[in-house]
Amino acid sequence: MNQRKPFMAGNWKMNLNREESTELAKAIARQAPDPDRVDVLLAPPFTSIATVREAIGGAPILLGAQNAHWEPHGAFTGEVSPPMLVEAGCSHVILGHSERRSLFGETDEIIDRKADSASRFGLAPIVCIGETLEERERHRTREIIESQLRGSLRSFRERKMLPPALLLAYEPVWAIGTGKTATPEQAQEVHGQIRKWLAGQFDAKTAETVRILYGGSVKPDNVKEIMAMPDVDGALVGGASLKAGSFIHIIRFEF
Ligand code: PGA
Repeated sequence: MNQRKPFMAGNWKMNLNREESTELAKAIARQAPDPDRVDVLLAPPFTSIATVREAIGGAPILLGAQNAHWEPHGAFTGEVSPPMLVEAGCSHVILGHSERRSLFGETDEIIDRKADSASRFGLAPIVCIGETLEERERHRTREIIESQLRGSLRSFRERKMLPPALLLAYEPVWAIGTGKTATPEQAQEVHGQIRKWLAGQFDAKTAETVRILYGGSVKPDNVKEIMAMPDVDGALVGGASLKAGSFIHIIRFEF
């Protein structure tokens, strides 16, 4: 058993209106597990952050955003900055999700800038990486993952220090929203490679302490076997985080 505390995150993507957000957040807050045993995070759309914050009340649930710009303020129409998210109550920000990479042209270079800036302003980045089906079939998974890690964590590599609160999320693109989960062994293999890479780029302690989440069709019926893998420290959940019953089951997987 490793010493890393499980971290379970719900990525709501562009879903749920105000009333639905309130209801869902309240239901989750009522069932929030012991924060000494599991960290739980909700990442609603920007416009629901305040609503969700209020609905959570004093329950031990963390708030995150799904994206952020790297500058603190300025003429960047349509963007939201890290200090704005901190002020709104966020402690984390998801960066480099495969939808941001493929639909909005985000590159490793952009993700690196965003992760560096977010951590400077006190937001813990959740940096996402993952290969496509074609890349996997061509046996390029390891090469792609390492190149995304190298590029997305460039500033931290140059300083030879990873922010202690940073998390990584391995999300094979072919498993996101498709119902196709990586097998626990497939997830473990990549998580193990990521940890080895971290040890080489930073140090053994960093590799041992960074939490690496798995994402891609995590559901109540597969969470336990995925979480049983030694290098899987949590889950980044999309579809199954939109229903109270399934997300509560997922965050309480060990109880
Ligand atoms: P999914 O999404 O759980 O719906 O596959 C995961 C994600 O995109 O973070």
